Amino acid sequence: MIEEHEPEAVRRTTGGAESSRASRGWWDRNADEYQTEHGAFLGDDRFVWGPEGLDEAEAALLGPASGLKGLDVLEIGAGAAQCSRWLAAQGARPVALDLSHRQLQHALRIGGDVPLVEADACALPFADGSFDLACSAYGAVPFVADPVQVMREVRRVLRPGGRWVFSVTHPLRWAFPDEPGPEGLSVAASYFDRTPYVEQDEQGRAVYVEHHRTLGDRVRDVVAAGFRLTDLVEPEWPAWNQQEWGGWSPLRGNLIPGTAIFVCERD
Ligand SMILES: C[S@@+](CC[C@H](N)C(=O)[O-])C[C@H]1O[C@@H](n2cnc3c(N)ncnc32)[C@H](O)[C@@H]1O
Repeated sequence: MIEEHEPEAVRRTTGGAESSRASRGWWDRNADEYQTEHGAFLGDDRFVWGPEGLDEAEAALLGPASGLKGLDVLEIGAGAAQCSRWLAAQGARPVALDLSHRQLQHALRIGGDVPLVEADACALPFADGSFDLACSAYGAVPFVADPVQVMREVRRVLRPGGRWVFSVTHPLRWAFPDEPGPEGLSVAASYFDRTPYVEQDEQGRAVYVEHHRTLGDRVRDVVAAGFRLTDLVEPEWPAWNQQEWGGWSPLRGNLIPGTAIFVCERD
């Protein structure tokens, strides 16, 4: 019998190449489980911004749904392209980009005719000014070592006046253990510690990486890339949502924010 080594969770520095390699491997290995566990909540053609269940159909962070018709939209870290399918249903022309081949295979399994692109958000394979809108629901941004590079790439491929909306784990959550129960309500680490969270194998190679930025860091990142921040949405936990998703739960969601959504515009 082969014994599987449990990855070791540490806080240590990690660069862009190691982070990308770890993310691709982790999402390829875990896409099946992710889609099995969360597919029903995500819906095949729903646009959900995070575990709270805030739906783009109500939130209209990309603008009124009636205005999406005919717009070119890039979805970054699209997973199985659920959000892109919703965009297509509104008459938009979405392109769903993800680093993970296996996630995109789930997009093919679900179907629809959204174009899929396998690429790293740090180097977008599109010409300047190709899109009217860009969006990302927890895709790519939390996993990259240099988020400003992603922001700059997004700005480059957007047309003047374009909007970029992305959600990430609310930075406040980094101070708390990632547990859905009461143990997840006591501060256990410094909010100001930017050292990445890394799971590594026996050889010390990263197999999963998340990069922490404070709220102020995230604002500075979007501004450094040349965007104007027009809104910062912190969805409240709705009464209808009784499901736990990792460290997200009704208990914690009623007390502390879990998701931060940045609405940015380029001139
Ligand atoms: C938490 S999932 C979110 C997927 C989808 N947006 C959803 O809501 O289900 C994060 C996604 O980001 C992708 N990802 C991670 N790092 C990336 C990168 N550097 N470039 C592009 N995609 C990346 C992963 O492969 C994964 O599909």
